[in-house]
Amino acid sequence: MKHLINITDLSCEKIETLLQLAQDMKNAPEQYQDACAHKILATLFFEPSTRTRLSFESAMLSLGGRVLGFSAAATTSAAKGETLGDTIEMVNGYADIIAIRHPGEGAAALAASHAVIPLINAGDGGHFHPTQTLTDLFTIQSELGTLSGLCIGLCGDLKYGRTVHSLIAAMIRYPGIRFVLIAPPELRLPRFCEEEMERAGVPYAYCDTIEEAVPSLDVLYMTRVQQERFSAGEQGKRYGAHLVLTPKILSRGKKTLRVLHPLPRVGEIETAVDADPRACYFRQAHNGRYVRMALIASLLLCPKDNTVTPLLGQSDGILCKNPNCITAFEPTLPALSVHTQNGICCAYCDKEKSADS
Ligand code: NCD
Repeated sequence: MKHLINITDLSCEKIETLLQLAQDMKNAPEQYQDACAHKILATLFFEPSTRTRLSFESAMLSLGGRVLGFSAAATTSAAKGETLGDTIEMVNGYADIIAIRHPGEGAAALAASHAVIPLINAGDGGHFHPTQTLTDLFTIQSELGTLSGLCIGLCGDLKYGRTVHSLIAAMIRYPGIRFVLIAPPELRLPRFCEEEMERAGVPYAYCDTIEEAVPSLDVLYMTRVQQERFSAGEQGKRYGAHLVLTPKILSRGKKTLRVLHPLPRVGEIETAVDADPRACYFRQAHNGRYVRMALIASLLLCPKDNTVTPLLGQSDGILCKNPNCITAFEPTLPALSVHTQNGICCAYCDKEKSADS
């Protein structure tokens, strides 16, 4: 594997190896302090971030490497209209590995099609966030000792929450997983995520409140409402305001329940919950450093190859209607589709297209 775009780029065996390496790095960080000496990580963040960017940088510095990059699109030539492809062609010559975050869904796959150095998707719009998922898996495994046989509640903005989409894609490959989806009707999962669960034979059910769901759960994965990704018609709506975790609601959960949140939280977990040992979102955030250390070191160890990974898809001229697709940010990109038995999907953002569009 050269890049990490989607969590499914990693087999369960590879994930296990990475999580083990992350654990070793957490136990004895001094043994890895020169593992990436003289290597440079470029953090290309076209969208706001605290944890992801800082944990990537902390990870590379802890491996003895160096870091360059930017944390806002406004300070780059993207503001002058430079394409993402051209930006990556530059960075190929300035760094040894890239971590990229971009508001366009499919941006990471597009960037990888220009990258001759390893590239890691640090979040592409409301699409995927595989390194958060590695952090989530590491946290679940360390807190509960297993990734199998779990009932997982996903709460909040399941429509635009990329961490949720990647977590589902990862967890459906483990035996005995069930999902309880706690979301307002307007923020339910995109159809492509429901289909993934259906194809894998993983049971899921929607539920209106956290109170109702909490007694059956092993993991409660809270998320914030992603206002910044709302369509024009959704702007100003206050969906999901009732989905707030309080100590009273948590008291209905199992003793072994674990509450995760990718953070930032914006009111959906009361701060009074933080003192409960079952609340592990800050431990989860700290784990992100070791997981990213393991990933960076593994990708940099792969033999160097100077080829690019082309985007797979048919150039059929059918435009993507998703306003958050990378093709909406860069209208000169060719329309590319993947034709499946379920219909025609955009090769960048995976959203369904209709042939008459
Ligand atoms: C998440 C993200 O960026 O998708 N945060 C993170 O990476 N830890 C969640 C969010 O922004 O709500």
